Amino acid sequence: MLGLNVCSDTTLRTPARAMSRLGRLCGVFGVLLFSWGGFFAGCQTSVCDSFDPDDGNACTEDSCDDVDGVATAVNTPVDCGDQTCNPADGACVDCLADADCDPGFCSEAGGNVCVECLLDVQCAVGQVCENGQCVDESECAVDEDCAAGEVCTNGECVTGGGTGGDAAAGEAFYAANNCAACHVADASGGFGPNIQGASAEEIFAVLSGAEPHTGGTVDGVTEQDALDLEAWLGSL
Ligand code: HEC
Repeated sequence: MLGLNVCSDTTLRTPARAMSRLGRLCGVFGVLLFSWGGFFAGCQTSVCDSFDPDDGNACTEDSCDDVDGVATAVNTPVDCGDQTCNPADGACVDCLADADCDPGFCSEAGGNVCVECLLDVQCAVGQVCENGQCVDESECAVDEDCAAGEVCTNGECVTGGGTGGDAAAGEAFYAANNCAACHVADASGGFGPNIQGASAEEIFAVLSGAEPHTGGTVDGVTEQDALDLEAWLGSL
């Protein structure tokens, strides 16, 4: 009788699907136990006890099954429709491997979704792979990739418009290189023309020697210097 008590207790905590099976098992074992005079302390029905049939996974269904008369827990993949069941976490996903994506590639890092590309080499020449899509290669990544006076915005070089320059640094540069000797202190023009509002592109061109400049070049002038000057000259 001891065996039967254990079984009915277990049955109460067992998913309904498995109950009938366990019931059968218990019945069989119970009879055995009873007839064997309590040699065993209980029946083997508790394997499925902690198995939650509703674990929230989209595509695996938990159930109790009996193999060779012993109840065991099994995870059964159920239909994911057009998708595929990911056995790792029981979620319905687009793909598990590239073969599931045609055309395309399976991005495991992106949550097992099909994407156009994973690597730049999977895109046409002149394109790069960004967020799983082939896009035209960016003109620039940082401002330094662009011409003087231009800044890099969303992968494209656009006219700076005063952004990226530090007016205080520009003023210091203007003083250190004695620009005021010809353009006067407020850059409004003297021997040299009024250069208030000059663009970074123009400034870089004359100071780097790309365009002739009576005032000469400044050794080691950088695009950032030109942007700084643009910011200061534009503020006058
Ligand atoms: C020796 C005099 C002299 C000095 C010093 C000088 N410039 Fe000039 N700058 C000129 C003259 C003159 C022009 C007009 C173009 C020409 O003849 O080269 C000019 C033109 C420019 C222009 C182009 C303006 C335009 O609209 O064409 C910029 C920008 C400029 N200078 C910036 C500077 C800066 C910045 C400095 C300091 C690093 C400087 N210049 C120092 C004489 C000078």
